[in-house]
Amino acid sequence: MTADPDAAVRLEAVLALGDVRTAKLEAEITAALARVGREDAGERWIASALLSSLRGREAAFIDSLLGEKPRPVDPELLHEAARLAGADPGTDLASLLRRSVSSFDGSRRSLAFAVAAGLAAGLARGGKNLREMPNVPDDAARDWRRLVAAARTTAEESMAPRQDRLRAVAVLAFAPWEEAKGVLGGLLDPRVDLDLELEALKALAKHASAEVAALLLGAWPHATPAVRGLLIDGLGERRERLPALLEALRRGEIDASDIDATRRTMLLLAASPETRRDLEGLLGGGTPERAAERERLLDRYRRELAAEGDRSRGAALFASRCAPCHRFSGQGHAVGPDLAGIGKKSREEILVSLLDPNRAAVPGYSAYVIVLETGEVRTGILASETGQAVTLRQAGGAEERLARRSIQSIAATGKSLMPEGLERDLTPRDVADVMAYLRQGAN
Ligand code: HEC
Repeated sequence: MTADPDAAVRLEAVLALGDVRTAKLEAEITAALARVGREDAGERWIASALLSSLRGREAAFIDSLLGEKPRPVDPELLHEAARLAGADPGTDLASLLRRSVSSFDGSRRSLAFAVAAGLAAGLARGGKNLREMPNVPDDAARDWRRLVAAARTTAEESMAPRQDRLRAVAVLAFAPWEEAKGVLGGLLDPRVDLDLELEALKALAKHASAEVAALLLGAWPHATPAVRGLLIDGLGERRERLPALLEALRRGEIDASDIDATRRTMLLLAASPETRRDLEGLLGGGTPERAAERERLLDRYRRELAAEGDRSRGAALFASRCAPCHRFSGQGHAVGPDLAGIGKKSREEILVSLLDPNRAAVPGYSAYVIVLETGEVRTGILASETGQAVTLRQAGGAEERLARRSIQSIAATGKSLMPEGLERDLTPRDVADVMAYLRQGAN
């Protein structure tokens, strides 16, 4: 049935195979799943069903796809399967690495890198890495070093296919720092293809080295807005990087207004209590003077609200600024409360929620900050939890499942994830327009 012409039937077949556990049929099941992986890789919904049906067969699946005569295979599918394999302690890392190296030699470079980066990412989830694993056999360690060396060359090779370079950069996120930093730092250059630059930035931010903060800050003056957002995310990813950001703000090298409201809030949430106070001062946080200033600000916006807002402009503003966290009128993500019934609230109440979110906090939406064993920091609302894991939901609706054993500490911040300081991004007129949109039908 995995070869049925009807995609819906193939999907059902994939899901059913996930439940079959018969030692005798294992080889056939894996082969059937691999066939779907080859034929349907472009279909995102089938790909995700496929990944969840692998359940321990990841390595054999990858092996089967890589072993094929050169045929197009989706590197993303391989990357995801490898990530699952890397997180599974039972995986035979050595044989998967050997496979990657031989695909590399067979000039399927992006596939080799996709598997290598996936394995390393999966291992990293459990706080492990290929260099320090006690039971990695020598030949596996050698294969990994070869892939890293190849990734360095490919990442810098301006004539190499873009896909190969992107995948190579992803490998360097897990390479020894000394080998990765020159190449990754060199790609933080506005003349480089934007996707490649962003990938390099993400890879840099994954390294724990104390030099990362300086490299990220050094890229700031010539970074484009798309890159600046990720630079800030990279700085916020580890607490020990925040003092360097604090210094840059203090020296005026970075202007607080260059950091959007959502990211300002994220930084404040991620900061340790000592850094938070200083950062709050520089980014405009919650001191007593600040409270008085908020009150004056509310007044200024209240005046504008008397005027009739423009609903269609409000709708567009909502889609770009609010939909990452709120559902309304059939769009948006459920990170904050659904705003369907918001029209029942008065203009004043809505205005306070918008401009002074920490005064009007809604229960159940307090932001949490989680520090991982690896030293990385994650913030978001707690979407769900089980015995083994918690799931954080971030702006944009992205969810991340964090195994409890990978967590060093969890703390509710008592602060709202609703960005404070929205007024720097929204003029009084913008607010009047969004209000008109949210209160359509109300009066
Ligand atoms: C980064 C996520 C995020 C963004 C972006 C965001 N919000 Fe929120 N918002 C929240 C959260 C979380 C809450 C509830 C928690 C709280 O207030 O403590 C909230 C609360 C609210 C409330 C109060 C809801 C209630 O039931 O009382 C309103 C109104 C609101 N937001 C409107 C907006 C508008 C309008 C925008 C865009 C200009 C926006 N928000 C952007 C996360 C966000």
